[in-house]
Amino acid sequence: MNSILRLPNDLDPFARLVAARRTLAGMDVRGDKIWPGMFDDGVVSLAHGDGTRRPPVRSLRAAAEMLSHTCGWSFDDYHFNREYLPLLQAIREKQAGVGADPASIESLYVDAGSSRIFSTFFHLFLQEDDLVLIPQGFYHGTLDWLPPDPARLHIVPVPPRTNKLTAEHLSETCYELARHRRIRRTYLLLTNPTFTGAVYSPAELYAIEDAAISHEIFVLYDLAFAGTEFADCPASVVRKHTRLSQRSLAVGTVSKSHNLANIRVGWCSGPKGIVDAMRDHREKTMGAVPFLTQAMAAAALVDDDVYLKINAQECIKRVELIKFGLNDVTGALTAAGVDAAINVAHDPGASHSVLVNLRTLSRQKKQLTSLDLCAYMLKHAGLAISPGYSMGFSDLEFRIAYGSVGLHGTYAAETCNPRKQLSIDMSCLEEAFATGRSVLKSALFDRLLPALVAMFRQNAM
Ligand SMILES: Cc1ncc(COP(=O)(O)O)c(C=O)c1O
Repeated sequence: MNSILRLPNDLDPFARLVAARRTLAGMDVRGDKIWPGMFDDGVVSLAHGDGTRRPPVRSLRAAAEMLSHTCGWSFDDYHFNREYLPLLQAIREKQAGVGADPASIESLYVDAGSSRIFSTFFHLFLQEDDLVLIPQGFYHGTLDWLPPDPARLHIVPVPPRTNKLTAEHLSETCYELARHRRIRRTYLLLTNPTFTGAVYSPAELYAIEDAAISHEIFVLYDLAFAGTEFADCPASVVRKHTRLSQRSLAVGTVSKSHNLANIRVGWCSGPKGIVDAMRDHREKTMGAVPFLTQAMAAAALVDDDVYLKINAQECIKRVELIKFGLNDVTGALTAAGVDAAINVAHDPGASHSVLVNLRTLSRQKKQLTSLDLCAYMLKHAGLAISPGYSMGFSDLEFRIAYGSVGLHGTYAAETCNPRKQLSIDMSCLEEAFATGRSVLKSALFDRLLPALVAMFRQNAM
């Protein structure tokens, strides 16, 4: 096996996740809290976030309407295990709108968020000799969906400049792994757009799916960031290859695109037998998705073009701010005598965060990881960054989640006048977005930069 294939699997990814969470919570290895955590007062968090602003006004109105009449549902009845048809229809229309094959969205079911759907799938179908392939740069919470068994997980390296899996790498990985162990079934978790905003083109998807078909891989599409694309025409078409329709599952959610993470509504479409088994599991385990929240999700999805476009435009501005900001940070590091460079690893075309590369050429006492960096920033700068350590990276890569910075300002802006409580005032919204951008800028120059200078100086040989 060549070394690049082995690289991200050198340490147990589940242990890495525990360590990253502990670090972000401000705890040492014993679990004692000894420095500020990401949610503490005074800490600026660039480590979490669900969206750029409050959920669509239409969605909030739908909830208010559901509460004001009891026609078709009420709190006292067991409606949650029945299908809420307006939501199913809204999802089908959305998927058809991005070119999904109608047959592939016939079998559809709704559950309490996409995390629960993925966990259900692996709980029901993953067996002893199965293997789950996850491209590097994955959403760290993905690991919570799997049994904590490193032997059933393989992180596939991705080229750093694109951060996207390639068909060649997928095939190479499959051949290599098959030479070393018996695999009953292989699953591939493909997130498109990715966690750090890379978007697979239809041609790239087609090639990956071709490889998946030849290696008999079952593909799970994580579409959490579908709808956040910066381009007018969303590229995240699912399942280019109709031959894959019986060997894949597409999972969506309103958590990110519509900032409705707290209502826990996700859905999945795929082969009938699988979808039926998963729906059955939801019913047996009381996976409640009340009509109240389903109505909110349905209202969010209908005619959401303007809502999504405004959010994407704000994300584009923030990415530019970070790119230029990091360039200036590199200049300032050099001026301070620190031989280090920091930049956005790949140009994002979607999502709410960027992957950042940090490199130093000067000789260091200790080889630092992104976990050391994360702990240092929390302790000395009151800044939370998301360590690449729990996303399958081993050096100083980290993630800046810029989307929800200043989010609470948008709540205030959109509800400032009680008479217009459910309407949007664009100038107020722009003001709130601008406040978020200035927090972001200050985080880069007043917190990240001085702490980097101090950290590298202390660690210099
Ligand atoms: C890529 C990705 N997939 C899935 C999820 C989980 O979303 P949900 O709220 O629907 O469980 C997240 C949440 O952060 C995510 O980033």
